[in-house]
Amino acid sequence: MHVWTTVAEWASRRQTMEGMSIGFVPTMGALHCGHASLVERCRRENQIAVASIFVNPTQFNDPQDLERYPRTLERDLDLLERLGTTDVLAPPVAELYPQERRFRVVEEPLTTLMEGVCRPGFFEGVMTIVLKLLNLVRARRAYFGEKDYQQLQVVRDLAREFFVPTEIVGCPTVREPSGLAASSRNALLSSSGREKASAIFRALATAPDAGQARAQLEAEGFRVDYVEEHWGRRFAAAHLEGVRLIDNVPVESRGQEPGAGGR
Ligand code: PAJ
Repeated sequence: MHVWTTVAEWASRRQTMEGMSIGFVPTMGALHCGHASLVERCRRENQIAVASIFVNPTQFNDPQDLERYPRTLERDLDLLERLGTTDVLAPPVAELYPQERRFRVVEEPLTTLMEGVCRPGFFEGVMTIVLKLLNLVRARRAYFGEKDYQQLQVVRDLAREFFVPTEIVGCPTVREPSGLAASSRNALLSSSGREKASAIFRALATAPDAGQARAQLEAEGFRVDYVEEHWGRRFAAAHLEGVRLIDNVPVESRGQEPGAGGR
């Protein structure tokens, strides 16, 4: 496995890969079983499996959140190697933002919903870095998790709009046995918090409507940013022990009353 920390070195390596099928998994590190499922699929479906580890500063609107984002590079590289990753991009910030924040990608209306409302500038940062990475890697396929479903939708539309030839592949959310969606942020919770956090999935999956899901979470002590339904899915973001967690489930998977949702 090669680890690349400069764009120039990666670019010459990339030239040797013409004609091969390249899969790409962008990440911010602190890898867990959710990331691993993306890398495994990427490895299965492509000759070359590239991952990136880059804690993208432009998608953090809260400097404290950026500072305390978990960084576990050595462990991440071990895991990626075991999963058969061929190349890892792990450049410092100045390599990917040589002109700092001079250029950025903006979009509406999709980024004016949910995460876009709660985290101003978040999607601009995500779209900007993802466009840069997709252009650098020029993969046949790039893998994104449904855990961040709004991000997946935005990235799909971004790639289409900017004629990026990479296929954007959505992958199902990996969960802990309790139902809690695997996330780098789970490591910031206490062990009892981690157990309690599975209430988000339960509320999303079982409450009869979004309003009741919100009420359930508030009753259990969560500070809820939103519970909303879009694209046949129900989404939530909620804080527990100062940690912000997000999740979503297909609305169809709930036991619906006849005719509800018209599907
Ligand atoms: P990060 O949070 O590290 O996630 C990297 C990828 O792993 C994303 O596509 C995310 O949806 C996926 N993922 C995370 N948890 C998952 C889970 N439990 N099941 C399935 N997939 C999961 O998302 C980002 O990084 C960044 O915004 C990035 C796209 C890398 C741009 O900086």
